[in-house]
Amino acid sequence: MYILIYDYLTLLSIIDTIFFINIINFTLTMIIGVPKEIKPSENRVALTPAGTYEFVKRGHTVYIQSTAGDGSGFLDEEYISAGAKTLPTIEDVYAIAEMIIKVKEPIQSEYKLIKKDQLIFTYFHFASYQPLTEAMIASEAVCLAYETVEASDRSLPLLVPMSEVAGRMAIQQGAKYLEKPQQGRGVLLGGVPGVHPGKVLVLGGGVVGTQAAKMAAGLGASVTILDVSLKRLRYLNDVMPANVITMFSNEFTIRRLIKDHDLIVGAVLIPGAKAPNLITRDMLKDMRPGTVIVDVAVDQGGCIETCRPTTHDNPTFIVDDIVHYCVANMPGAVPYTSTIALTNATLPYALQLADQGWKAACNENKELKLGLNIVNGKVVYQGVADAFNLEYTPVESILA
Ligand SMILES: NC(=O)c1ccc[n+]([C@@H]2O[C@H](COP(=O)([O-])OP(=O)(O)OC[C@H]3O[C@@H](n4cnc5c(N)ncnc54)[C@H](O)[C@@H]3O)[C@@H](O)[C@H]2O)c1
Repeated sequence: MYILIYDYLTLLSIIDTIFFINIINFTLTMIIGVPKEIKPSENRVALTPAGTYEFVKRGHTVYIQSTAGDGSGFLDEEYISAGAKTLPTIEDVYAIAEMIIKVKEPIQSEYKLIKKDQLIFTYFHFASYQPLTEAMIASEAVCLAYETVEASDRSLPLLVPMSEVAGRMAIQQGAKYLEKPQQGRGVLLGGVPGVHPGKVLVLGGGVVGTQAAKMAAGLGASVTILDVSLKRLRYLNDVMPANVITMFSNEFTIRRLIKDHDLIVGAVLIPGAKAPNLITRDMLKDMRPGTVIVDVAVDQGGCIETCRPTTHDNPTFIVDDIVHYCVANMPGAVPYTSTIALTNATLPYALQLADQGWKAACNENKELKLGLNIVNGKVVYQGVADAFNLEYTPVESILA
């Protein structure tokens, strides 16, 4: 009898344990929607076939708008064989999805498609556009912005990949516009035996500047990086090859260096502020005709006074014989690389959101929590509230 009771209790405890383990491992299944980007000249897509496979493997359902991946070189058939279902229209995708993954901020025609409680994970840049902010407040959706997902070292993991692309592209574009038919000086950046290589000046040694310097050095150019952070200059001095030198950034040094450099890359960032004008209009006359400026920081106002945003269709203009390249969305020209680089960074966060739901995921992952900007009509990101004098609700109060 005693043995029977003992066995019965053991059996109950085993059943309890199995039940408890199931609760611990409980993951949600979610319906993911990937619309085609409709902002002009945007060819990236928010999910690759490889990413689709990861969602489907975990039991989630992925709906992708037909031809959404075409611009990045990913065909519908590849998504279907990875387990996705295609839908013909953008309306269908928004209507069915619990979580929408995008690249660019929704544009006006998408506002009405976004539903209450729908999770939207994309770049928003709310503080730069009030109508979008108001529309997302009115939608009562949950808006998680790529650009404010922040790591504990204050780096922005979902902005870094695009800075890496833009930094590397800056040299590719600069080298092209230095050619005579493009109105450049006619300098080959790497030189040839017996001829001095081109000289590249990089203003700002952050992510963009480092990648630009690395590419220019790889081509054989003589490279100078300027920064105001000695810590950063020490690091760069340690890791860069011998044809890269570092200098502290100040007006005196910049005025001296621009006289004999062929390509100047603007890569300065002061977080939350307009980029400082390190090269002013009067300084252009000190440069040699055909010098090329690639101002990557143009999206923050540019660090060269004469810069104004341009597009891939018409990327350059000339001021005082100096070629200016100021495309505000440089990664848009290389959507295959940009899409993979972006989704490599976004996928782990998107999977966590799908597996746990946004509330549990944001409670567990501080980086994701900082991405929450607008939740069910409340502005929960201080910078967005400040930008338009809106009421701010601490994010903790909605996560509790
Ligand atoms: N045009 C595009 O398509 C595109 C794409 C990606 C990034 N960006 C822009 O490129 C810029 C740089 O981005 P990042 O990711 O490299 O930023 P980052 O923060 O990694 O680097 C900025 C660097 O600028 C330095 N700096 C600040 N003031 C300076 C000064 N007076 N002189 C010299 N250096 C100074 C900082 O110390 C820092 O090292 C940003 O404005 C970003 O938005 C543009």
